[in-house]
Amino acid sequence: MSRLIVISNRVSAPTSHGAAGAQGGLSVALAAALREYRGIWFGWSGQQTESFTGHIDLQRNLGVTTATIDLEEQDVDEYYNGYANRTLWPLFHYRIDLAEYDRSFGSGYERVNHRFAETVAPLIEPDDLVWVHDYHLIPLGAQLREMGLTNRIGFFLHIPWPPARLLVSLPFHQRLVRSMLAYDLIGFHTEEWLDSFHHYVERELGGTVHPDGTIEVGDRRLKAAAFPIGIDHKEFVEAASSDTARAAHDRLLKSAEGKHIVIGVDRLDYSKGLAERFEGYRRFLEEHDNCRGQVFLLQIAPPSRGEVHTYEAIREDLDELSGRINGEFAEVDWVPIRYVNQGYPRAELAGFYRAAKIALVTPLRDGMNLVAKEYVAAQDPEDPGVLILSRFAGAALQLKDALLVNPYSKDEISDAIAKAMAMPREERIRRWKAMVESVRNEDVVWWRHAYVEALRGCGEGDGSPPAP
Ligand code: G6P
Repeated sequence: MSRLIVISNRVSAPTSHGAAGAQGGLSVALAAALREYRGIWFGWSGQQTESFTGHIDLQRNLGVTTATIDLEEQDVDEYYNGYANRTLWPLFHYRIDLAEYDRSFGSGYERVNHRFAETVAPLIEPDDLVWVHDYHLIPLGAQLREMGLTNRIGFFLHIPWPPARLLVSLPFHQRLVRSMLAYDLIGFHTEEWLDSFHHYVERELGGTVHPDGTIEVGDRRLKAAAFPIGIDHKEFVEAASSDTARAAHDRLLKSAEGKHIVIGVDRLDYSKGLAERFEGYRRFLEEHDNCRGQVFLLQIAPPSRGEVHTYEAIREDLDELSGRINGEFAEVDWVPIRYVNQGYPRAELAGFYRAAKIALVTPLRDGMNLVAKEYVAAQDPEDPGVLILSRFAGAALQLKDALLVNPYSKDEISDAIAKAMAMPREERIRRWKAMVESVRNEDVVWWRHAYVEALRGCGEGDGSPPAP
């Protein structure tokens, strides 16, 4: 069987803590894929070096080989903080108002993708399947082709694909998208992002989209499809019943002293709609004064990408807003928002999710959102909580039995909290059963098999020529 080479900006070597560790769900899933198919996980170490040497740090942990490189400070500034997180991230989350374009970001992005290609190419054997992840590495496939690789190479985007009308505001957008034609298979989380990609290909590149998902542009043929990512349901349910989870659950419930817990867990990012969520919760407190003192919002928001100005700004805004709401409504024995800027291991989060009667997952735009799925997986089947979910998260296409809200509307958020607080147990169980079925069936193991098998099948009997 061919090996699998996974390439992503971040690499996370598996730890012996497994589900109880701080590792994200996707890292655990990719590590499992690498164990199954053998292979290598290649990417940036997260470390900086004086000058780029191309030295590869090869390590083997718990059956997974990782290969990482250090980058120069200028690389990190221009490629990671710059083009990836100041240009593409906001634009792909429909925030053209926040997207910054700087020539140096574009050249740093190309340079680092080239560095990735040059360093990883010698590790790739002719039969290997290559799977590139996320917006940091869009042109990597084309760079690998330039080095003569004829392997099957696939790309998966973990964030939304923006509508063509927004994408054209990116200088050199055609160059970026054309570079994607070098892949054999492009994966998105939802049909919505796939449709936007198709629209761009037809409108801007004059390409054709065939009913079987084949895309044709000039003499290139490739496939694009939606593969909604899931969580490792089995592993997460185990984590949720671990001692760590139980202790976390009890600790939170004890501190709640009988009040309803509304939970939010998000990386501190403007795409997560935290300010809008706080405003919606404030509206709820204004409109339901009988609920004051009966409920609190626990918002866990570990800071991220602190070197990017917009992230510093959102952090300041949220500090201020949470403080203002607390000052306005708090009593001597009650604080409406517990705002926590640290992350927790997954097993502890599972315990918190189970203790919370309501989850607020209200991103303004999100490729998928696995917190929504983890919340569902962690619930007590006899007495499940209620998921309030943004209709603009990819997960909303699968979790249709959540209370779906427009995250920009304070009123909708407020009404949904009120409805969730009053929801009878039978209705909670009915909604939860429908949701958990999709979380269980379309889990991460299904996702990676579906993707890898589709990649393996590319070019075999479907009419597309082998990679150039
Ligand atoms: C999103 C992206 C990932 C990224 C993660 C954390 O989920 O799709 O590629 O790794 O955010 O962001 P960071 O910048 O800390 O890697």
